[in-house]
Amino acid sequence: MDFTKLADLAGGHAGARAIQVALRLGLFEALAHRPLEADALARAIGCDARAIALLANAMAALGLLAKNAGALSLTPASRRFLLAASPEYLGGMILFDEAIFPLWTRLEDAIRTGRPVRAPDMFQSRREETARFIRAMDSLVQARGDALWAAQNLDLSGIRTIADLGGGPGTYLLEFLRRYPALKGALLDLPATLEVAREILNERDPAIAARIELVEYDYRNRELPAGFDAIFLSNVIHSEDEPTNRALLQRCYRGLVRGGMVLIKDHIMNAELTEPAAGAVFSLYLLLTTAGRDYSFEEVARWLREAGFGAIDCQALPSPPFSSSVVTARKN
Ligand SMILES: C[S@@+](CC[C@H](N)C(=O)[O-])C[C@H]1O[C@@H](n2cnc3c(N)ncnc32)[C@H](O)[C@@H]1O
Repeated sequence: MDFTKLADLAGGHAGARAIQVALRLGLFEALAHRPLEADALARAIGCDARAIALLANAMAALGLLAKNAGALSLTPASRRFLLAASPEYLGGMILFDEAIFPLWTRLEDAIRTGRPVRAPDMFQSRREETARFIRAMDSLVQARGDALWAAQNLDLSGIRTIADLGGGPGTYLLEFLRRYPALKGALLDLPATLEVAREILNERDPAIAARIELVEYDYRNRELPAGFDAIFLSNVIHSEDEPTNRALLQRCYRGLVRGGMVLIKDHIMNAELTEPAAGAVFSLYLLLTTAGRDYSFEEVARWLREAGFGAIDCQALPSPPFSSSVVTARKN
């Protein structure tokens, strides 16, 4: 690795923080309809003129604004990903990262103790935290295109009922049901998450939302409600420890019809747990907030085999932009 790469990595927090604050202040929205000079931009969003000029210069340097003879305007990237009206708005995820930024200052505590630095409650305790978390999941998946990829590339033909377990905002389920008009979907999740999911699904597509059953379900302590043809788990196992995941996959096995399929989408790591890089770094976020981490294909396949599954397979999504894979297995 050369100096520049290392320096960029080690100082990455400065750029991240600047983008988060620019977004929170409404800097990009203020430029949505016309270019402005820094003084006018500062007045529009109620900030100090000299400071906004510096922040705007930094955004221009990072490619998120263009600056011509002092006039600041959006770039294609900021128009696509940083305006709330865009279908690929990544702001939900960026504002979630902003809210949890203080947790990263406590990474040393977590490394010393091995324990999360906040209650590992999956952001269920306070309504505004749940909404920010669940909207962040939706924002990330919409901006990157995971759900569309999954609906176009995972073969769900012949499947009549699918459970999206820990389905969060329902972003995936919605695309599955769009792609397969006869498919019936159930979104199984905790009650606070379901409240947010209901809002998101109705905002986005009321007709599809009407085909989705929202089911209050805690996978830690209950059997699945019915015999599903398929169970989809996206970004669920990484928040749990190994015994919980073992038990969860055993529940999935019992919840499927014979021949039914489980699909696990997550960062699926190499045996050394070092690749994909995004997953190795994300495991530190999981250390801060949960009892989980990203797991290797060997680990996931072992739990599946122990539960009784066969035909275990793994497909990596194209990278970039993706860094995850889908493990599939069939109930024997
Ligand atoms: C990281 S989010 C993933 C959301 C969605 N599957 C996705 O990939 O975008 C994890 C989800 O698991 C849900 N969850 C966490 N613990 C759960 C439990 N014990 N029972 C059911 N759902 C749970 C959370 O509410 C959240 O929706």
